[in-house]
Amino acid sequence: MTANIGAPLDRVDGHLKVTGAAKYSAEWPMPGVAYGFMVLSTVASGRIRDIDTSRAMREPGVLAVMTHRNAPHVVTADDKAGVDKGPMVLQSDIIAYDRQPVAVVLADTFERAQHAASLVIVHYDRERPQTTFAMGTPYKPKAVHGKDADTVRGDAAAALAAAAVRVDHVYTTPAEHHNPMEPHATIARWDGDSLTVYDASQGVFGVRTRLAGMFGIPPENVRVIAKFIGGGFGGKGSAWPHTILTAMAAKMIGRAVKIAIWRPQMWGSVGYRSPTIQRVALGAGADGRLVSTIHEVQGQTSQIDEFVESSGILTTMLYTSPALLVTHRVTKLNVGTPTYMRAPGESTGSFALESAMDELAIATNLDPIELRLRNYADMDQDAKLPFSSKSLRECYRAGADAFGWSRRTPAPGSMRDGRMFVGLGMASATYPTNRSAASALALIDAFGNAIVQSGGVDIGTGSYTAFSQVAAEALGIPVERITFGLGDTRMPNAPNAGGSQLTASVGSAVKLAALDARNKVAALAIADPRSPLAGAAPEALDAKDGRLFLKADPSRGETYAAIVERSGNVMVEGRADAKPGDEKKQYAMHAFGAQFAEVRVDPDLGTVRVVRQLGAFAAGRILNAKLAHSQYIGGMTFGLGMALLEETRRDDRTGRVMNANLSEYLLPVHADVPATEAILVEEVDPHVNEIGVKGIGEIGIVGAAAAIANAVYHATGKRIRDLPITPDKLLV
Ligand code: MOS
Repeated sequence: MTANIGAPLDRVDGHLKVTGAAKYSAEWPMPGVAYGFMVLSTVASGRIRDIDTSRAMREPGVLAVMTHRNAPHVVTADDKAGVDKGPMVLQSDIIAYDRQPVAVVLADTFERAQHAASLVIVHYDRERPQTTFAMGTPYKPKAVHGKDADTVRGDAAAALAAAAVRVDHVYTTPAEHHNPMEPHATIARWDGDSLTVYDASQGVFGVRTRLAGMFGIPPENVRVIAKFIGGGFGGKGSAWPHTILTAMAAKMIGRAVKIAIWRPQMWGSVGYRSPTIQRVALGAGADGRLVSTIHEVQGQTSQIDEFVESSGILTTMLYTSPALLVTHRVTKLNVGTPTYMRAPGESTGSFALESAMDELAIATNLDPIELRLRNYADMDQDAKLPFSSKSLRECYRAGADAFGWSRRTPAPGSMRDGRMFVGLGMASATYPTNRSAASALALIDAFGNAIVQSGGVDIGTGSYTAFSQVAAEALGIPVERITFGLGDTRMPNAPNAGGSQLTASVGSAVKLAALDARNKVAALAIADPRSPLAGAAPEALDAKDGRLFLKADPSRGETYAAIVERSGNVMVEGRADAKPGDEKKQYAMHAFGAQFAEVRVDPDLGTVRVVRQLGAFAAGRILNAKLAHSQYIGGMTFGLGMALLEETRRDDRTGRVMNANLSEYLLPVHADVPATEAILVEEVDPHVNEIGVKGIGEIGIVGAAAAIANAVYHATGKRIRDLPITPDKLLV
């Protein structure tokens, strides 16, 4: 199997994973480790009046119970928002949300800690929690993605009122909780005032910064390691309370501590997708051309922090609309802080916008793809910039062909399969191309092997593999000879594996570091009279199969191993710091795609089965077709869950989550997931970054729920504007 960029190489860490040798954060051996188990609040608002730990302390194996009364002090004022995060990490008696950590029981085994945690008795002074939008007051956040929360183009209200055709509806999406295969886990150990942490995190440097700040120690004193992650999806993009609590507990009892989050605790202090209420109003001419677009977004945040679900951002650039108004508001409630969840903003926003576009297609009697083509944006109207590349037309075409869109008869309810209603729906997808500064190190040794490192985290996407391919191509060294290191703050700096940016950011640094190492080895040969390459011009050289040679005469050359060996060096080192240039000032940079779904709806039971999902995506250069395909179909499956199943339910009398378990919080299982296909539409983008990639982790979910909702409408004539689409909603 060729390992070149683009090749569908198997995961280089596949063997480690299937044999269990890959260490996830909870699995690092740590002699003498104590097990921490969090006690979570059973009220959503109020104060702790008393906390009785005596019974728990009498249990065998229990070492300590950490509460707000005896916990080490940490610095909690949030640097950005100036909010007191005391309630997050046992620094006060305030309860701000359901399932907030109120104590940590430490014992010599996990089971003893868990059992003793059930014996901690907390007495609360309860207050009536505010947990619905109607109970709070929406406000305009200072910024959304660094820009004003409102985007205004012309007079959208007047243009809507004057439009020949109008659709104007409210769409709602529920809170959804992260449940990757691997729940969060942290191990922390202090050596004097140095801290080592194994953390299930999407970004070790962000966790290091947070821990150093909270414990008042220099970042160099904190080492954070995350070698293998069982799924991140945004949920592991922040340093959550349990990570801080693990380090606090280790300090308190003077030994290493591990906290592994128990599945039901995933509905506690580790973030979730904000519910949204979204009004989308579209005004168009009879020809379907938009004259006005309004998208008003409401999300929620906690009493102790601000998170804004940025659902309206894609609306500012996806279609051409002369008049436009996009607003974001948030409401502070007695809930945990929401967080990023796969395409945060775009996933919820695309459900509303792309459902509304389907409604406009019906109102204007146009095919949904034709309507989108009539409003195709050839430039980003919001940024007022051309796209660095955009292949959405090709995505519509390739997707429609492969899906068989032409067999769709437009009238709702017009297609049947026996007694089942058949529905075909589609939606557009888009996700911004992000990039941050990143560094990498490449070492070539005297055996011709390479070690390449950057501190970014492979959250399960296949970064080890893709980056090995980038390094192999730049070095001209076979991929089996490359050992890739990731996920350690001792390695060169890298951003969070979030915002679909890791490959673009770190991949660019890897390429540059590899070229730097290669050039240094070449320089050794060129300067060495004993080398067949002595005196050659550097640009006359090429590298392949571990060997440097003259392009004009490939027989003249020698191996990396021979050059490094003769130089007397143990290794030759290349380094690079890669960062975005001013391309974002010249181009709007986004990936695009088209989503298609086919459903069967039971007319008597209202049950929806998705029988087929197909997505066509263009995201610049694809480093590994197999990994990319896997990311896309994973995102589409996430979208299926969003469309039909996922919903966190809260009892608004108590403010408590009612379905904090996987038997009542439903995720798609194999039987729910149909034939899922992803088409990789070719695209060359010379502008985005050194390696031409746009990022593929999130776009797979964008538009997926809308395509299914639109298919359900096509099948039944019933428009469900409130996710998830459950049978009760179809039967009324
Ligand atoms: Mo992604 S939701 O930005 O990790």
